[in-house]
Formats: sequence, C-alpha cells, structure tokens
Amino acid sequence: MTSLQPPWRALLRIVLGVVLSASPLVASAFRPVAARHAMVVSSEPFASEAGLEILKAGGNAVDAAVAVGFALAVTHPEAGNIGGGGFMLVRLAGGESVVVDYREEAPAAASRDMYLDSEGRVIPGASTEGALAVGVPGTVAGLALAHQKYGKLPWRRVLAPAIRLAAEGFRVSYGLSESLRADAEQLAKFPESRRIFLRDGRPYEPGETFRQPELAKTLRRIARDGPAGFYQGPVARALVETMRKHQGRIELADLRHYQAKVRQPLQGSFRGYAILTVPPPSSGGIGLIEMLNVLELLDLGPPNSYQSIHLVAETMRRAYADRAAYLGDADFASVPVGGLTSKEYAAKLREEILKAKAEVAVQAGHPADFEATQTTHFSVVDADGNAVANTYTLNGSFGSYVTVEGAGFLLNNEMDDFTTKPGEPNMYGLVQSEANAIAPHKRPLSAMTPTIVVQDGKVRLVLGSPGGGTIINTVLQVLLNVLVFKMDIRQAVTAPRFHHQWMPDHLVMERWGFSADTIQKLEEAGYKLEDRDRMGACESIEIDPETGWRFGAADPRAAGKAVGY
Ligand code: DON
Repeated sequence: MTSLQPPWRALLRIVLGVVLSASPLVASAFRPVAARHAMVVSSEPFASEAGLEILKAGGNAVDAAVAVGFALAVTHPEAGNIGGGGFMLVRLAGGESVVVDYREEAPAAASRDMYLDSEGRVIPGASTEGALAVGVPGTVAGLALAHQKYGKLPWRRVLAPAIRLAAEGFRVSYGLSESLRADAEQLAKFPESRRIFLRDGRPYEPGETFRQPELAKTLRRIARDGPAGFYQGPVARALVETMRKHQGRIELADLRHYQAKVRQPLQGSFRGYAILTVPPPSSGGIGLIEMLNVLELLDLGPPNSYQSIHLVAETMRRAYADRAAYLGDADFASVPVGGLTSKEYAAKLREEILKAKAEVAVQAGHPADFEATQTTHFSVVDADGNAVANTYTLNGSFGSYVTVEGAGFLLNNEMDDFTTKPGEPNMYGLVQSEANAIAPHKRPLSAMTPTIVVQDGKVRLVLGSPGGGTIINTVLQVLLNVLVFKMDIRQAVTAPRFHHQWMPDHLVMERWGFSADTIQKLEEAGYKLEDRDRMGACESIEIDPETGWRFGAADPRAAGKAVGY
C-alpha cells in the first residue's frame, strides 16, 4: 500500500482531531477535558449541556450554574431538585466571593423530639421517608438569589433548557433507569411518585423518553413569577395539601418565611493557596479547613502509601469527632468556628497524631450507609474567570419519596440531617450533638463542601461532591491529590478514596485502588477496614495557572460530563 501524501495526511489528522475531540470516548479517557474559555462539569450530561448552552448565549458562570441546577431537577431526579436545598459558592473574577445558603429549614411546627416515640426511642423511618421528613425547600429561593445578585441573562432564559427538557422529555440513561428500579418499592408507596416516576408501576428502561408535563408547568410558573411562583400561589398550595395528606408539617406560612441567606465564605489557607468554602449550617468548610491546617505541616509521603493514609485518616477521625461534638446551624447554636479552624488548634491535633498509632477502639452497632450517592455537585467557570461551586440535594436518593401532587417534583428528607436524638447515628452513620437539635426555622447540619481554591489571586480549582458524611473527605483528597501529589485534575478525581468519620471506628476504603501490601499494613496497625465500591462524585475544574486553560473532570464514579468551549 502506498503511504498517504502529505496533504491527505494533514487532512486526516484534522478530521480525526475533530471526531476525537467531539467523541464521548475522549471525554471519559484518562485525560481532563480541555477548553480555552469556559467549562461546566456535572453528574448528568443533559444538565452540563444546558450550562454550556447558557454560556454560549452570553451568560456568565452564575447564569450557567442556575441553568444546570434547574436542568438537574428534571434529568437527575434522584438528587437534582427544586424540592431540596444546598449551597452555592460564587467567586467573581474580581475577587469578590459569596455563599448563597439555601439549605432547607425546619417548619414552625417542628420540635426537638418529633422523631421519638413516647418512650424516647427514634421511630424508624420517620425522619427519612414520607412527609414528616421534609424540610422547607430552599433551592428555588437560592438559585433566584444568586441570579438576582450576579446573573446577566434574563431569568426566563436560564430556565429555558430545563423547561424544554421537562416538556419535550429526554432519553433515560442506564443510570437513571437503575436508580428508579432500586428505589421503586419506596416510590410506589406514594401514588403521585408511582404515577410519575414509575409510570404507574412500569419503570423506565434506558433509552425511553421521560416527559414531565407537571414539572414543566411548575418551572414555567417559576420562570414567569420568580420565587413567588414556588413559595406562593398554586404550587405552594399543592405542596401544603400534599403535606396534609401525608401527615407532614409544612404550612403556607413556612413557605412564605423561607429566605436564602447570603453568607461570607469560610476562608482558610494551605501551603500558600487560599481555600474558599462554606460556613455553617454546613460542617463541610470547618471540617475541610481543620484537616488542611493539620496536614499542611506533615510529610505525607507518596500518595496511597501507608504513611499518607495513616496521617490523613487520623486527621479525619479528629475533625469528625469535632463535627459530632460542636456543629450545628450557627444562627441558633454557638459554634466555635474560629477555634476549630485556627492554626494553633491544628498544631495541637498534629502533635497528638504524630504520637498516636492507629487509635482503634472498635465500636459495633452503627449501621453506616455510605452507599447512597444522591446529592449532586456541579462546577462552572466562565470566560471571564468567574467560578461557581454548587452542591445541592434531596438528601437520600429521591428524598422523602413524596411528590407534590400536580406539581411534578419530589420533596427532600433533609430533616434526617438534624440530631433526631443525641448520640444516635443518622442515615450516614453520623453521630451529632445538641448543637444540631431540631428547632423551628433552624437549618440541619450538612456535610456539603463546595470549594474553590485560589492561587495568586486567581481561581485554580473548583470542586465539591455528594456522599453524605464522606463528602468532606472526598473534597479533601481531591484537593491534596492536586496540591500535594501534583496529579492533574482527571487523575486527582479518579484516584481511590478512603474515609474515616470517627464513629463508627472504620476506615472505609475503595479497596480496588490500594495495594495488597498497604491494606495489610493498615490492618496490622489496627485499622478496621470496610470495603466500599465507590465514594462521591467530585465534578471538578482546574485552571492552568500559567495558560488559563480550563480542565474539566467528570468523576468516573458517576455518569456525568465535562463540557466547555
Ligand atoms: O447535607 C448533607 O450533608 C446530606 N444531606 C448530603 C446527602 C448526600 O450527600 C447524599 N448522597 N450521598
């Protein structure tokens, strides 16, 4: 065969380049997705594309993030939502940064012991399933506040992709079909959830089209009336009627009362990088900064080595013990944020850790369930360098399983994040204190950790993850992988993870990723290991500090997508 002539070769190279760069194979290969100007990474491809559409239409990172948030409410109903809540961290190119706290709130009729029986025992399922588990949703207020403060495009325009996806439908992915099947039994307990999400009992197969006309109508109303289209009028009335029917406690007054709150980000430093993250009512920022402060002056050795796992796990153990003891909504309880995030306190912990071996005091009887991966995080960077890290959730997969009748959306089960009873573990096995006790209008303690790392005044990393109690440790490890172990963002996100949360006293590991020798050494040191297939879905962006190129990495643990231009 004759060799190709140079012009043909050049043409072939161009054609191959175009085909490969557009191919999903390349996006999921062991390289980050590169873009010159802007990047969106989320756990669901249609939602990432919605963000890109808005960026290309002239929107900024906040416009795109709002579009992704609404789109996920349609295409990723396990966690994407308008019936839940979360945190959005925004950092503008000029340096201003802000957290929009749109965490759910306890209704006025909530009380400290509402999930206990007359003998003071936790009523199984009461805080996790059904209408009593629902906190007042914050998502619509939060996305609207972010848009009102920073958005550039009209509100209606940023909702358009979500409305289209709900009205015209979208192809059900393998992942969504599996999630619906996995939770079919619980969804079927609520007739409206069964009708919509199980098509009266026949779950969607991959490739089928899922249309949600009621949700489209609700979204159109929000597009027309803003947050009032959700917190007042027919949608609010439908929500309250659904509550009454299923013995929930949210009233119209609770919906009117709800406000998203603008907060100052929590700021830390790590080896010269500035860390921006979320304050209470999330524990995520405090935990992350506390751990980074401890680790800053330790020699971690090579990644995945015994030395690094031991030092990081002992740090995790202590930060999670503090979480359990001290943290709650700081608008209601006194939370020692300054002390926990101080370098002096970290020095004391570091000393303890260097003296200690694996402090294993094996505890039994805490049924930790890290399996659920149903919160969702997305990251956006625009052409001007504005950045958004957003994590939001219904809490469990499909939340409380209750769908608002006629309005087409699921409600959260975020009340389970409160301390239902001090010392009693929640659905993530997390033990919590009086500081997180239930009170009217209080927000439950979260572990969500949307985070932005700044280097020399410019955004370097945008990240966050789902994973209940594991979230803070996932963010910590991806951050260490880039900043300490010098991995690129794709390697950092893919690398195996481990998790310690003080109680139960287990070192949870994605065992597939660690060498048999390391595992053996950890066991010999006394760690009680627990295997986990996967933890988190850290949808991340890194900006090259020299060239400004944006690199996106969708976590291979979820079926998401990084897209940019
Ligand atoms: O706010 C929190 O910490 C939890 N409600 C998050 C739940 C979660 O990440 C579920 N997904 N794994």
